[in-house]
Amino acid sequence: MERLQKVMANSGVASRRKSEELIQEGRVTVNGKKITELGVKVGRHDDIEVDGVPIYQEQPVYYAFYKPKNVISAVSDDKDRQVVTDYFYGVPERIFPVGRLDYDTTGLLLMTNDGEFSNMLTHPKHKIDKVYVAKVKGVVNNDSLKPLRKGIVIDGRKTAPAKFKILSVDHVKGTSIVELIIHEGRNHQVKKMFEAVGYPVLKLKREKVGSIDLLGLQPGDFRELTKKEISQLFVLASTDK
Ligand code: URA
Repeated sequence: MERLQKVMANSGVASRRKSEELIQEGRVTVNGKKITELGVKVGRHDDIEVDGVPIYQEQPVYYAFYKPKNVISAVSDDKDRQVVTDYFYGVPERIFPVGRLDYDTTGLLLMTNDGEFSNMLTHPKHKIDKVYVAKVKGVVNNDSLKPLRKGIVIDGRKTAPAKFKILSVDHVKGTSIVELIIHEGRNHQVKKMFEAVGYPVLKLKREKVGSIDLLGLQPGDFRELTKKEISQLFVLASTDK
């Protein structure tokens, strides 16, 4: 459920501010009932009319996108850099990224126009696993990475325990490849966690979010999630762990 004025604005009927005015002026009905208060929430199946004219609510869409490097996880950029929605040319729905990957991080980003879905997936209490593969500077070992398992303090707050697996080490180049699984989504979290144990991240890719992975996608590609995948994510996000 979302606020009426937000749904109106999303449908393109008016700005959020103007939609609030329309509501307060008594020009909006939901399922035939006049609404004049601003707190009302509506769902996809509610019939909304403005001055007796139905507004069109977009149907929800869900995509898995392989974000390439040097693309911003946003729908617009004031410096005119490439943004993730540039790759969705021809998709009419107003989609946005679920959470964020850094400019230089590649990998799986879910995209949707469903605000509720996005809130569910990004809320830390739902503990959806995200799998990252990082190339780090330095030769790691199980002991030196152990603090990641316990949780470490970054920005004054302890992270939840993470799981890691060392995939390879290159003694000649002095680098390592490590898989890290976390369920929080704090700013630059993976980079800060590795930095905290003494291994700066050189390259970062997200391989998986919940049950969704990058299989069959190349950087810049996207695909619609199947009904099964969408319901799996809803189940994951609504189950308290
Ligand atoms: N953690 C990071 O540090 N960067 C990302 O892009 C995602 C998680």
